[in-house]
Amino acid sequence: MSVGSFYITTPIYYVNDEPHLGHAYTTVMADVLSRYHRLQGDDVFFLTGTDEHGQKVEQAAKAREMTPQAHADEMVVRFQALWDRLNISHDDFIRTTEPRHTKIVQDILQRIYDAGEIYEDEYEGWYSVHDERFWTEKDLVDGKDPLSGREVVQIVERNYFFRMGKYQDWLIDHIERHPDFIRPETRRNEILGFLKQPLGDLCISRPKSRLTWGVEMPFDSDYVTYVWFDALINYISAPGFLTDTDRFNGWWPASCHLIGKDILTTHCVYWPTMLKAMGVAMPETIMGHGWWMVDEQKMSKSLGNVIKPLDLADKYGVDPFRYFLARDMVLGQDSSFSETGFVTRYNSELANDLGNLLNRTVVMADRYLDGIAPAVGAESVTMQSLKETAAETRKMVEALLPKLDTSRILEAIWGLIREANRYVETQAPWALAKVPEKRKELEETIFALLEVMRQVAVWIFPVMPERSQALWDQLGLEGNVADTRIDDLSWGGFPVGTRVAPGDPVFPRIEYVDVEANEPETVEKEPGVAEEESGAEENQNVITFDDFQNVELKVAKVLEAEKVEGADRLLKLQITLGDEDRQIVAGVAQHYSPEDLVGRQIVVVANLAPSKIRGVESQGMLLAASTGEGLALLSPDSDVQPGTRVS
Ligand code: ME8
Ligand code: MG
Repeated sequence: MSVGSFYITTPIYYVNDEPHLGHAYTTVMADVLSRYHRLQGDDVFFLTGTDEHGQKVEQAAKAREMTPQAHADEMVVRFQALWDRLNISHDDFIRTTEPRHTKIVQDILQRIYDAGEIYEDEYEGWYSVHDERFWTEKDLVDGKDPLSGREVVQIVERNYFFRMGKYQDWLIDHIERHPDFIRPETRRNEILGFLKQPLGDLCISRPKSRLTWGVEMPFDSDYVTYVWFDALINYISAPGFLTDTDRFNGWWPASCHLIGKDILTTHCVYWPTMLKAMGVAMPETIMGHGWWMVDEQKMSKSLGNVIKPLDLADKYGVDPFRYFLARDMVLGQDSSFSETGFVTRYNSELANDLGNLLNRTVVMADRYLDGIAPAVGAESVTMQSLKETAAETRKMVEALLPKLDTSRILEAIWGLIREANRYVETQAPWALAKVPEKRKELEETIFALLEVMRQVAVWIFPVMPERSQALWDQLGLEGNVADTRIDDLSWGGFPVGTRVAPGDPVFPRIEYVDVEANEPETVEKEPGVAEEESGAEENQNVITFDDFQNVELKVAKVLEAEKVEGADRLLKLQITLGDEDRQIVAGVAQHYSPEDLVGRQIVVVANLAPSKIRGVESQGMLLAASTGEGLALLSPDSDVQPGTRVS
């Protein structure tokens, strides 16, 4: 990529399929990368679109008794609507049936035909309809497509061929000289391995007698163009190849073709040799990411195991969904999708780490500084280490961006968030606030938190554009976070005198999830356990003495304890409150065995409305201190009469 300009593409998706999580992943990744580059002040051209020709689309249309064009017109809307909903900021959307594309495909074919790059020959071999690929007899494995294992049909016909084979040595050389051309490394090695075999020429036509739905060959109207030869050209037809040279030269070569590893050969072998034959420069990077898997299998329509992106976005919010995609998949590797994994990540990273930091920051600014951002000298000792971490975070993000590694970018940002949370604990502003001489340190502490939050709001914008604005608004900052640039992030930029505007949680916890059983069960905050939080003083809700008196805490003795069938976190306890026995269900089974508890004195909330947990009646709740990994039951210091009130 030339300095200051970033051109990124996604595959153009087939319109025979409804978009699923895999399509959403590539597109969200490209969007996140585009937005980081815009944040950096780069000019960005982000292209996506749809692949509308070929046999698969023709068959899908036939099955619906529609013309291929009508079918495509209907299907394309689903992709566009999904990208809208997911806040995808593409600059162009190309459809291969548009004249601006088909015209260029024909021009290119004519040019390279005239230059002798295409010849006509008899073709004899095997064809996989699903994969739109030809194979020779010796390629087949057990008489099937060697890659997909699908059925192939025998074919003998005259066709046009592109002289791909003659570029083999050149291509190997190009890949070897440009370590970033194919990434990650494993994909590069795969292609270099593939190129050890002789590379044949590429059949780029289909007789109309067999397939009509394609771009007509300009030099022979009995044929249409092979769908891949047509589709790949979108990457240059959209930015103006052969029609707008200045514009084209401004964007090409592409900085990154982002693709899944299923379409590696077409992008790393066909496409470079096509470009070479046209005399066009090579793209800088082809990044082949891994697959989203479900139960060890690739997620795909043909396997019937697709996750629908809209379902997740509707259920948990668009931004958390984007966050999950950008964070969860390690670059280049496959990833198993699970909704429980999604919720766990949401609760720990969004609700806990980030949501909590925002809440603490604005609530403490409000409580201790009347909501007004103080003026703080840059020399402040108190905030030195946070300031350094913030600078370090910026360096890491900038270094990871060219590696296209959104997961590690987010990890770096979360390093800053977690450090700020630890800083709250060590600074203990609630204690500082009680000592008038510590006023300056209190102001510095809160200023440092406000400043970290401002920077974090900017850093997460590319991933969560809407929630980052909500964060920005609660900080009381003016305007749009979208208008900020990385260069605005020098430490201390939080405007003095700003009034914070605490509001609803930006990342409310997801309390109930049990995807498999589809029955409510608390995951993070365990049922029947009241957690004691450390640093309770900065919590938003202050209760009155009367409120407290309304909670009836009593000492109880455990008479019996047993596991709850089918719920590995739950124990069912029979307890006595002296004059009354009760049953309670508590989420402590991972920390205490039934034997540990029998005979023990515990503290329970005695006037809680009874509820059913996993279908088992629970008449109260026990108290425990939860540390994240561990759990410690509260008990009186010495044995007291069961039923004694705790106050
Ligand atoms: O191949 N995991 O279109 P397509 C991750 N039209 N990504 C996935 C995925 C999964 N399980 N499933 C799909 C085509 N994808 C051609 C492309 S480009 C000139 C022509 C994503 O609709 C991933 O990006 O089959 C993959 O490469 C792409 O969708 C394939 O989409
Ligand atoms: Mg596919």
